[in-house]
Amino acid sequence: MQMRFLFFTFIYSSCAQQLLFPNDFKFGVATSSYQIEGGWNASGKGENIWDHMTHNNPKSIQDKSNGDIACDSYHLWKTDVQLLKNLGVHFYRFSLSWSRLLPNGLNNRINYDGVHYYNNLIDELLKYNIEPVVTLYHWDLPQGIQNIGGWPNIATADYFMDYAKVAFDLFGDRVKTWITFNEPIEICVSGYGGGDKAPRIIYPGISDYLCGKTILIAHAKVYHLYNNYYRAKQRGKIGITIDTAWNEPNDNTTLSKEASELSLQMQFGWWAHPIFSKNGDYPNVMKERIANISKLQNFKTSRLPNLINHEINYIKGTADFVGVNHYSTVLTSYQPLPKTIPVSFYNDLCVKSEVDPKWKPSAATWVKDVPWGLRKLLNWIKNEYSNPVTYVTENGYPDLGELNDVGRINYLQGYLKELLLAVVVDKCNVAAYTVWSLLDNMEWAEGYKLKFGLYNVNFSDPTRKRTAKSSVEFYKNIIKSRMIPFDNAEVYIL
Ligand code: NOJ
Repeated sequence: MQMRFLFFTFIYSSCAQQLLFPNDFKFGVATSSYQIEGGWNASGKGENIWDHMTHNNPKSIQDKSNGDIACDSYHLWKTDVQLLKNLGVHFYRFSLSWSRLLPNGLNNRINYDGVHYYNNLIDELLKYNIEPVVTLYHWDLPQGIQNIGGWPNIATADYFMDYAKVAFDLFGDRVKTWITFNEPIEICVSGYGGGDKAPRIIYPGISDYLCGKTILIAHAKVYHLYNNYYRAKQRGKIGITIDTAWNEPNDNTTLSKEASELSLQMQFGWWAHPIFSKNGDYPNVMKERIANISKLQNFKTSRLPNLINHEINYIKGTADFVGVNHYSTVLTSYQPLPKTIPVSFYNDLCVKSEVDPKWKPSAATWVKDVPWGLRKLLNWIKNEYSNPVTYVTENGYPDLGELNDVGRINYLQGYLKELLLAVVVDKCNVAAYTVWSLLDNMEWAEGYKLKFGLYNVNFSDPTRKRTAKSSVEFYKNIIKSRMIPFDNAEVYIL
């Protein structure tokens, strides 16, 4: 890491300890339906791909668990809102379970018990002035839609739009911030490209790119639907949440710099470039790279399904904000293509990723405590997409469940400092920050071992008792004071 530490002589050095988040900056916490709700078949809910996978193939989850009960938030929503109230958050980001609202995924049958559940939750949040921020899709596709191909099937874009319409009609009078998709790369590469997420379709380098095209079209359809038919009346905002680690060049060479840029473009830019860049479409480096490798593999056309002009224009500009999920950093360098290249997204990307052994670890191999990566990423987004309105929609730290969670406090403190510098010093247009997660919950294929919650949940207690960890007080104080104490030496410019 080469970072220039410059001490601010005027403005910042004298008042460094008083750097404040702007008055309208918002703090929140996040969860998702499958990870916390439970009630997997309660009163009319249909099966989704995670129910299906965990029930039919329990080994797909490390501890053979599932989300059947999870945190039981389907029954404990009132308790959860009290926890949010105690934290003093401005908003709560949660997701709707598509198959709880539309049991078979289609709009011909609405499950009114599901509607009732979300109405209760939203009303209870508003009662305490907590803004609901709603993700439409956080990975729990109705199994019926998967049975006809799921996201690689372009028809799924229309079913998603039908579902979004139901959600806008039912909740749009009170929900003013919508997120279409959470982490599309996970949906596609981990779900359809041979990764460990439902529905675990193993067709890498093909199915994941088809999924990607459907997601971009589906996102744009839902944006246009909102823009044309709901915005004037409901006056909300709609965006998408994209994730990436920061890719720091491992050394000063052009090759490492190019590898880092390629990596950011293929992971973040895959989704952000079509929506937020001036010209739209996939990033050029990604298109060229996949076209060239496809040719070497004897394909007659690129495996990346192209976007025709009409689609490029239809997708371009379809967001009021970019949601960013960010947890960690990697050191990236060049890796030569092998002689025969197996077909997959990761072989198309083909870069070397390492971590610095000096970085503080967490309980997850993929999360190291590297706070400056957040600031660099926010600056990269600022430069790449003309400083769009940005919400950090997830950031958090996994441990094994300590109530005195000093690792989490250190991590959050570091990342919040870098965020503050990005906002105040670099003028990145970031308006919100979200901790993942309110509660310990079902961490997908990793089951319940990794804990991300500010609140502990006792999963062996049928009442799923919640207990505040030390980080609750820590986060509460930051929200209240809008301030993080700095040493002068910590204020630097990039
Ligand atoms: C990203 C996902 O959105 C969320 O569901 C997951 O639990 C966290 N990151 C932690 O892995």
